Amino acid sequence: MHNKIYKSRILITGGAGFIGSFVVEELLLSNPEKVIIIDNLLRGSFDNMKAFIHNPVVEFIEGDVRDVVLLEKCISEVDFVFHMAALRINACAANPQEGFEVMLNATFHLAELCMKHKVKKVIYSSSASIYGLAQHFPTPETENPYDNQTFYGGAKLWGEQLFRNFKFMYGLDYVALRYFNVYGPRMDTDGKYTEVMIRWLDCIREEKAPLIYGDGSTTMDFVYVRDVAKANVAALWSDVTDEAINVGNCVETSLKQLLEILLKVNNSTLIPEFREDNTVNPVSRRLADISKAKKILGFCPTVNLEKGLYELSDWYFKKKKVKG
Ligand SMILES: NC(=O)c1ccc[n+]([C@@H]2O[C@H](COP(=O)([O-])OP(=O)(O)OC[C@H]3O[C@@H](n4cnc5c(N)ncnc54)[C@H](O)[C@@H]3O)[C@@H](O)[C@H]2O)c1
Repeated sequence: MHNKIYKSRILITGGAGFIGSFVVEELLLSNPEKVIIIDNLLRGSFDNMKAFIHNPVVEFIEGDVRDVVLLEKCISEVDFVFHMAALRINACAANPQEGFEVMLNATFHLAELCMKHKVKKVIYSSSASIYGLAQHFPTPETENPYDNQTFYGGAKLWGEQLFRNFKFMYGLDYVALRYFNVYGPRMDTDGKYTEVMIRWLDCIREEKAPLIYGDGSTTMDFVYVRDVAKANVAALWSDVTDEAINVGNCVETSLKQLLEILLKVNNSTLIPEFREDNTVNPVSRRLADISKAKKILGFCPTVNLEKGLYELSDWYFKKKKVKG
């Protein structure tokens, strides 16, 4: 294993986004020759990129991964590709046609072009959504994906399978990373599908009772964004190929516990109010088995939920102050 990033040329689709911007920061620590970002700024932003946008190594292209000509131009110039551009789960549900174009069609073209231009390795952002409601906890990578009911989860699984097939047929090296519930600074705050943490932080700011829909027993496996970025870089450094690997914390946290920790780190004594949940949540539990990531990537989450929520709160309240 050697520093593959030093003096190499890397493309990152979706690099202006939440996780992508942290991956760029992490890559720059290993002195690449060039980092090209393609992002249409649907959800990404210049604000996310402010730590590196003026770095001469970084080239930001405001463009769409559905633009095959642009994709080919960028891929023909690089050694490695991180493919992170995607629509969110609810956006895919709201517009499956667009989901198809971005998640499937563009990923297909990307894989073909990586093969054509002999890209050395692709790191593909997959998701725990491929499992749907798993049958085993902690959930290993060998869990079956048949309980997924979402377009998004199906598309991510198809992407994994596409890269597997291209490895088998053409020898294109890749690693698929199945992220669990990623959180941290730069999480989307104003979007239509704002995360529950941000809603609760607003309640803390406004000293209003935070609402929990249902009994708060739904669990998630929260993993801090910088740890996810480190897993991405480790997947490139490592000689591993043709593997799908869970990236989580291996800690199961209920929504109720999440709120308790969020209130604690913000010294808040607010009492939550419970409301009837009218929506059906098909995924009531998430817990990642991360032994494969530990073994193959040397991955070890470094930020626990309390510290991570402290960082998130600090970032969010500062951002709100600036905006007024
Ligand atoms: N955040 C999570 O908890 C999570 C969990 C599992 C998987 N993932 C996956 O990780 C990757 C990064 O997610 P994120 O949380 O940073 O989301 P994000 O929305 O912040 O990042 C995705 C980026 O892709 C860009 N993008 C979308 N469509 C595009 C297009 N057609 N052309 C070019 N750019 C486009 C967006 O503007 C955005 O900057 C995605 O592939 C996502 O599916 C995220």
